[in-house]
Amino acid sequence: MKIPPFPLIAGLAALAFAPLTGCASDPAPAKHTFEIKGADFVLDGKPVVLRSGEIHYPRTPHQYWRDRLKKAKAMGLNAVCTYVFWNVHEPKRGRWNFEGDADVAEFCRIAQEEGLLVILRPGPYVCAEWDFGGFPAWLLADRTTRVRTNDPKFLTPAREYFLKLGAQLKDLQVTRGGPIIMVQVENEYGSFGDDAEYKRAHVDFLKEAGFEVPYFTSDGPGARGGLIPGIPATINFGGGAESAFATHQKIRPDGPRMNAEFWVGWFDAWGRQHSVTSPEAKAKDYAWMIDNDISVNLYMFHGGTNFGFMAGANGNRKSDYAVDITSYDYSAVLDESGNPTRKFDLLREVLRKKFPAEKFPELPPRRPMQALPAITLDAYSPLEFSLNNPVRAERPATMEELGQSYGFTLYRTGVTGPARGKLDLGHVRDRAIVMLDGKRVGVIDRRLNQHEITLDVPAGEHRLDLLVENLARVNFGRDMIPESKGLVEPVKFAGKELTGWDQFTLPCDDVSRLGFIAPGSLKIFERLEKPVFLRGSFTPASDADTYLDMSKWGKGVVWVNGHNLGRFWNIGPQQALYLPGCRLKPGEKNELVVLALEGDTPASISGVTGQIWETRVDPALLLRKPGQHLALAAGDAVHAGKFAPGEAWQTVKFAKPARGRHLALEALNALDGKPFAAMTEIVFLDATGHDIPREECSVVYADSEELVKENGSAALVLDNQPTTWWHTAWVGKINPGFPHTIVFDLGADREVSGFRYQPRQGSVSGRIGDYKVYLRDRPFAGL
Ligand code: GLA
Repeated sequence: MKIPPFPLIAGLAALAFAPLTGCASDPAPAKHTFEIKGADFVLDGKPVVLRSGEIHYPRTPHQYWRDRLKKAKAMGLNAVCTYVFWNVHEPKRGRWNFEGDADVAEFCRIAQEEGLLVILRPGPYVCAEWDFGGFPAWLLADRTTRVRTNDPKFLTPAREYFLKLGAQLKDLQVTRGGPIIMVQVENEYGSFGDDAEYKRAHVDFLKEAGFEVPYFTSDGPGARGGLIPGIPATINFGGGAESAFATHQKIRPDGPRMNAEFWVGWFDAWGRQHSVTSPEAKAKDYAWMIDNDISVNLYMFHGGTNFGFMAGANGNRKSDYAVDITSYDYSAVLDESGNPTRKFDLLREVLRKKFPAEKFPELPPRRPMQALPAITLDAYSPLEFSLNNPVRAERPATMEELGQSYGFTLYRTGVTGPARGKLDLGHVRDRAIVMLDGKRVGVIDRRLNQHEITLDVPAGEHRLDLLVENLARVNFGRDMIPESKGLVEPVKFAGKELTGWDQFTLPCDDVSRLGFIAPGSLKIFERLEKPVFLRGSFTPASDADTYLDMSKWGKGVVWVNGHNLGRFWNIGPQQALYLPGCRLKPGEKNELVVLALEGDTPASISGVTGQIWETRVDPALLLRKPGQHLALAAGDAVHAGKFAPGEAWQTVKFAKPARGRHLALEALNALDGKPFAAMTEIVFLDATGHDIPREECSVVYADSEELVKENGSAALVLDNQPTTWWHTAWVGKINPGFPHTIVFDLGADREVSGFRYQPRQGSVSGRIGDYKVYLRDRPFAGL
């Protein structure tokens, strides 16, 4: 089918617009127009290649926006792209915030002053490794709210958000003399659904809010569900540009070619290795696109930081829950503190070659960093002091039902002993520190698929406290819908439901109100029962940036002068917290507050001049438990085959559909003859050849996973991300060799007719050759 020509939404008349180059004080702004005509983006009547870079304004203090934007311009970019984060702008229902780091209009104005066009992605679903994909948590005050659907409990407040945003930004469109040239509709909706009415609602809201520049959608190559008739479609990927555009061509032959998210790096999860990508490989793909006049948005040009409790999470309800770290360094073009990396030089070279006549502005000087001498923590405030006004209920309420969005909720009840049994929280969201009479007796962590511990209660009446931490709401996939936090199911002890709860909200949004005690001796910290807030003060010499070295601490949160710098956790990969110098008051008394939940509590903290990347791999994350020996029976084999070379998706059909719930894929060798196996994605097909929803499946076993040298977790084959893969161990002597087996629980007894498989991307290493598939109704022997 021929797609109709794209409507020209942007004004065609020549309109006032600040200069694309030059500075704010130029007296007569140049006049600009922007439109999408057939296969071209057209600026001032001439086709233009959009060379854009993504920066998220809430991930960088507003004091530094100009610095980052100047650097984008200095690399040779002509546009900046940002999401808009609804949960930042409407932290409480009906309470709006567009100030300081939330002043998105100011961000756009500075971009214009620096000569950059602006591409706006207002979501409100943004994904972005941001809590709940940008949705405000209060949407879950009613736990039946279904985000990203036509549920009026979602769409009504979403419309209000668009109208508020329109009021802020509509006058900054190119049609009215501003820098905003295009607006994205939703975000990668094709990876989630295909409801035309839902997409149309978003288009209508944008129009009603006054957005009159061209719209576009953005999706993985081949994701049809995200397309909207008459609206140009861009695609997102991190490599293999040629084949990605070939795939896209098949479903959208018309319209401009643009990679709206060229992933130059990737994000990190707590406990997993820091992801690093090759600058040379990225520059090669970038050059291919730029040389072919394809528009590209670098995701991320500058990642920045998930300050506060804004980091998101991935994974699904059954397993694989992985929490994003505080740093959003992303292995981006500029590092977390805004300094250029090698990617900057290589990508600038690509643009210099392509546009030899252009003179890119000078790169602003490297920003100084400072080390901070040890800051002594000499006052403390046990978390216990912060408990007040409990909400009493027979059964636990969720965090959002208690009116809270982020932080911790403490659930308190009584238990009578002597008794010993399982304390079962059902599904904990996300990590509970269990305390009996104030003494810590265990932790139940959703990341490790835990839901219970054995509890020994001595004779008599005792106080049971469950301090539940909201680690981050899932921001991707269908499993973000039920992301209520705290306790979401009844709690049982020794098979009986525990009732009569006092529930204390601890949003930790204002540490200035904490009551601190200064102990006589620092030694006291060693005897303190955690959780506890610790406080210290310091007088920095300058307002240069620094990183607080938390590598000797356990787990918790840090505030400086009231600003929440985010979480730390000794499992890594980050061991330091970025402290932007603009948060400091040089020459004056500054205040540092640490919430220590567990682990060591050293008496001081110092500042270092760079991030410390170090993962302390927790063997509990390995899917193969100690002593596990999988035994596959020949009688359960349902298919044998050999994968083709190359990195394209392959579809495998069994001779006839087979039945079962437990599926093993046994890799027998690799195409390159080496002893490693890797796999990017797998999707099983039901009897009719349709996808079995991946969120109903989980990976329950993998014989080997590389967790030391890379994040080769087997769970990544179900994460719907072409940039991540399962890789068997390759460091040192622990490589076990073939066969390599991965086992899935399909969630229910099913007819399986085959599967779709995506080989490891970017390199032949680990691509599987011969393999066998086993399927049965009961778990495999040995698991
Ligand atoms: C997708 C989303 C982005 C981000 C990237 C991964 O493409 O659209 O918001 O989550 O993945 O960083």
